[in-house]
Amino acid sequence: MLLAGAGSFSLNTLAAAMSNAMPLAPAGMTLLNPALLPSGADLAAMPKLANQSIEAGMFRATLTAAPVKVPLLKSGPTEFWAYNNTLPGPLIEVTEGDTVEITLINRLSQPTTIHWHGLPVPPEQDGNPQQPILPGQQHTYRFTLPEGCAGTYWYHPHPHEFTAEQAFRGLAGGFIVRAKHDPLAGLTERHLILSDLKLDQSGQIALNDSNDWMNGREGQFVLVNAQQRPRLRFSAQGRERWRVWNACSARYLRLQLPGSEFTLVGTDGGLIEKPVHGLSEYLLAPGQRAELVVDAGRRRDTAILTGAIYDRGKMGKVAPEKALAILDVDFSAVTGSKLAALPVPLATMPDLGTPLARKQVVFSEQMTMENGQHAMQFLVNGKQYDMNRIDLVSRVNEVELWEIVNQSDMDHPFHLHGTQFQVQSREVDGVVTPEPFLAWRDTVNLRSGETVRIKTVQHWPGIRMFHCHILEHEVAGMMGQLKVV
Ligand code: C2O
Ligand code: CU
Ligand code: CU
Repeated sequence: MLLAGAGSFSLNTLAAAMSNAMPLAPAGMTLLNPALLPSGADLAAMPKLANQSIEAGMFRATLTAAPVKVPLLKSGPTEFWAYNNTLPGPLIEVTEGDTVEITLINRLSQPTTIHWHGLPVPPEQDGNPQQPILPGQQHTYRFTLPEGCAGTYWYHPHPHEFTAEQAFRGLAGGFIVRAKHDPLAGLTERHLILSDLKLDQSGQIALNDSNDWMNGREGQFVLVNAQQRPRLRFSAQGRERWRVWNACSARYLRLQLPGSEFTLVGTDGGLIEKPVHGLSEYLLAPGQRAELVVDAGRRRDTAILTGAIYDRGKMGKVAPEKALAILDVDFSAVTGSKLAALPVPLATMPDLGTPLARKQVVFSEQMTMENGQHAMQFLVNGKQYDMNRIDLVSRVNEVELWEIVNQSDMDHPFHLHGTQFQVQSREVDGVVTPEPFLAWRDTVNLRSGETVRIKTVQHWPGIRMFHCHILEHEVAGMMGQLKVV
């Protein structure tokens, strides 16, 4: 859908949310000159959340969500909202089988929750919007991570109507579950959390304008571990295992490292069976993670990890996005040459088996006219999110086949809480492409007009959310509720 001047839209769907959640920024406001944000510093070590427990198998800690002033710019500090004053939020690292007890203290002016994106935790521990932690309150989340769930997850707020704002103000962090026996344990690991930042002319975090609410927010910066275009000195070994998070509200990351190839070894929920070699690029939709092995080969130069142009069917003018240089990778310190082949298999990937029930989820958008203005609604099965409505019902431990259909004109990343699913096939224009390999995912992208079929199963009774992971669409109501009985 091509419509001139996205700024002329209004989102009636958001009127209620925005009246109490946040005012609307004027469309097309002037943003901070990108040159004013320093870049090129060495990639700093990722801050980690310290374990307060000395008991084996127990991880205990506190996360305080609060405003913090960060000296990003010469002109003065920028206010973010952060966990433990840290950007990104401190990295949580546990081992499968561990019990996790994390107390959230809410020092924000809004209700919040912590959602453990992708992790198999019981619904009542998963930070659903039904269980808000009010300003000044605290709450302890507690869960035990089952064997076999090693993977690359993350955490972020999920309160009703405020998820997008709290995430773009800085509240998000990585969560790694380590395997007891990791076939790639010997490799140097890199943790790259990619997030979006939009600063106004005064260097403060900009509010969303109507275009952001429509298309999803994309600021003038993509940060890597909260740094602009940092420099990464590649391991002297000549090989690294990268865990990459797309923690952006709406930006698709079409990652390329010109002159090098990626080897895919893991997706959202852990390692895949066999490495997929020779990838010249890898697309990470909002919410997704990947584990990529990068080999220096013979190179001793510098390469730029780039987010290449990706056309996701945004509305309004299709401005040629400029490719974003996001990370300088310096191979000059590499000394090793011949590297051993990666182990095979990396993991055993059981097929979830024969589905016993079917579900259909349809994403659509609807243009309406309100007070002479175009208004847009983002819908799931023809409806906007309602916290008091159950949209779908599943049975505990029953494998289901879900057909997810995108009838809208834009890409939307589908995300289901509480479990990892297996994509079976993708269909465009009647052509069905079976998925080439099994992988654990909790988020899958849907192109305009695409249908994706997944096998999925839920292991606890309770309410689970499913939604578009463009966070502005989630706030606008592109979300449904699954009741597991
Ligand atoms: Cu990452 Cu329902 O969210
Ligand atoms: Cu989630
Ligand atoms: Cu969407």
